[in-house]
Amino acid sequence: MAMVINKVAVVTGADRGLGYALCEELLLEGWQVFAGQFIPEWTELKDLAYNNPELLKIISLNVASLDSINTAVRTIGEITDHVDMLINNAGINVSDGDIRNGMDFTKTQDIFNVNTLGPIRMVQAFLPIMGSGMKRLCFVSSEAGSISLCNRNSNFGYCMSKTALNMAIKIMFNDLYKDVFTFRIYHPGWLRSYMSGQKSTTGVIEPEESAKAAVPFFIKNNSSEDTLVMVDNKGEEWPF
Ligand SMILES: NC(=O)c1ccc[n+]([C@@H]2O[C@H](COP(=O)([O-])OP(=O)(O)OC[C@H]3O[C@@H](n4cnc5c(N)ncnc54)[C@H](OP(=O)(O)O)[C@@H]3O)[C@@H](O)[C@H]2O)c1
Repeated sequence: MAMVINKVAVVTGADRGLGYALCEELLLEGWQVFAGQFIPEWTELKDLAYNNPELLKIISLNVASLDSINTAVRTIGEITDHVDMLINNAGINVSDGDIRNGMDFTKTQDIFNVNTLGPIRMVQAFLPIMGSGMKRLCFVSSEAGSISLCNRNSNFGYCMSKTALNMAIKIMFNDLYKDVFTFRIYHPGWLRSYMSGQKSTTGVIEPEESAKAAVPFFIKNNSSEDTLVMVDNKGEEWPF
C-alpha cells in the first residue's frame, strides 16, 4: 500500500480564536499541523493535540522573538523535512491612544512588532524548510489596513500594522514569486474571538465559520498566482 504523506502546515497564534479554528479545519483536511502556542496556560490546544496525536504537534512560538521562531524551526525540522504552508495568523490589537489625548507609542511599537514584523520574521526563518514543499505563504490581514476604506480616527497601531503588513507581503511576493512561492491574504471578518483578552460578544462571525472559508482559500491552487488579492470570508476581494 502506498504511504500517505500528509501536507504540513505551521499556524501562528493557534491557542484560540481564528488560529485554533484554522488548526481544527486543517486536521479535517488531513494536514499535519504544527500549532504555534503562545499561551500555554490556555488548555484548548492541548486537548486538540490529545485527540489528534499523529497530526497535531504543539510548538512554543512567540512571533515577536526571532529566538523563539528559530527554536520552533529547529524543532519542526527534527520532525519533518519540509513545511508546505505557513499561516501567519497571530495578531494583537490594544488601544494605543489617539492624537488629541495622546498616544502610547510603546503600545504602538508592540503592535507593530507582532503584527508586521512577526510575519516577516516567520517567513525569513521558515524559508529554508519550505523549498521542497507547496511553498504557500498565508497572511491574516484585515480591512483595518486598507487606506482607501479607512474611516477610523484612532487605533493607529493596529491599522498601520496591517497596512505595513500588506506592503511587507507585496515586497516578499516581488522577491519570492519567481521561486514559485504562492501567497494568500485573508480578511477574516469581525470575529467573535479573544482580541480583547476575552471572548468577544460583539463580533459578527465565529472564528470556526471564518476558518471554514479560509482553509479552502489557503490550500487550493489558483489557475493564476501572479497577483496579490485580499479576500474575505465570503470570497469578496478588498482593496488594500
Ligand atoms: N478579531 C477580529 O475581528 C479580526 C478582524 C480582522 C483581522 N483579524 C486578524 O485575525 C488574526 C487572528 O486574530 P483573532 O481575532 O483570532 O484574535 P485572538 O483570538 O486574540 O487570537 C490571536 C492569538 O495570537 C496570540 N498571540 C498574541 N501575541 C502573539 C505572539 N507574539 N506570538 C504568537 N502568538 C501571539 C494571542 O494570544 P493572546 O490572547 O495572549 O494575545 C491569541 O492566542 C489576527 O492577525 C488579527 O489581526 C481579526
